[in-house]
Amino acid sequence: MIEVLADYQRRVEEHLDACLDSASIPSRLLEAMRYAVFNGGKRIRPALVYMAAEALGAALSRADSTACAIEMIHAYSLIHDDLPSMDDDDLRRGQPTCHIKFDEATAILAGDALHSLAFEIVARDPALAAGTRVELIGRISAAAGPTGMVGGQVIDLQSENRTVDDATLEHMHRSKTGALLSASVVCGGIIADAPPVLADALARYGYALGLAFQVRDDILDEIGDTEVIGKRTGADHARRKTTFVSVHGLDSAGARLDELRLEAIDALAPLGETGAGLRQLADFVARRDH
Ligand code: IPE
Ligand code: IPE
Ligand code: MG
Ligand code: MG
Ligand code: MG
Repeated sequence: MIEVLADYQRRVEEHLDACLDSASIPSRLLEAMRYAVFNGGKRIRPALVYMAAEALGAALSRADSTACAIEMIHAYSLIHDDLPSMDDDDLRRGQPTCHIKFDEATAILAGDALHSLAFEIVARDPALAAGTRVELIGRISAAAGPTGMVGGQVIDLQSENRTVDDATLEHMHRSKTGALLSASVVCGGIIADAPPVLADALARYGYALGLAFQVRDDILDEIGDTEVIGKRTGADHARRKTTFVSVHGLDSAGARLDELRLEAIDALAPLGETGAGLRQLADFVARRDH
């Protein structure tokens, strides 16, 4: 794990802890929500929000609600992704998946609850002007919804047991995974009131990084170590998923990953030295082992 991530991890976890602590939430639901959020995620998406905002000169306190919201939506997407009706996985971050630890209904509802709570947190953030909150909510909901993550997940399920063309594969990955990662970076720019040229640089970086992230995920399913990644390796193959590795093979997937890494880094040129952390993160995403 790169050094720079640790500070952002600590920061977002402190804030998530405060958001997920209410006597008004039924205890079993709260327990399941906390289980899905506090079980060792890398917190890449919150780090992207913080790093983009910070690179453009915003105080980190302006980014806390968005960082928490996006991580909650990510956690919800993982709970649902692991359900028997979807990827049917029993291991996540080295521990039983939420529906195994609790039960299916509780897992579904914990996901639903995290999704709603995410938007409530941004809507109520006193550190941000009302217009900024609306812009952030619009951006995050678009990334999570039918033309983003949820749409991509549907394409993913429809692509089991069949071959799809390159364009569909890329569209699926950009939607199911790229959209939320890319929104994290773009939201950092919104929080910092980025001038158009820098907002555009962040968007291009996020677009490349988002796809790179899922290509590496596909590669890790093939070559990773269950002990290290905390998920069962070979699961994509077993479920006859369409992935970058199943369509292109390991070598081509690796080559494409490196192209995307460089594309992401190139996009940051307008940020100059302030983009150093984001550049490092692109290297980490492409080379991570978990
Ligand atoms: C895993 O995401 C699911 C994908 C979108 C590929 P992460 O690799 O960011 O998962 P955690 O949060 O660190 O466990
Ligand atoms: C997950 O893709 C995309 C999501 C929106 C959660 P995967 O199904 O490949 O993610 P893992 O490998 O289970 O983490
Ligand atoms: Mg999946
Ligand atoms: Mg999965
Ligand atoms: Mg995967």
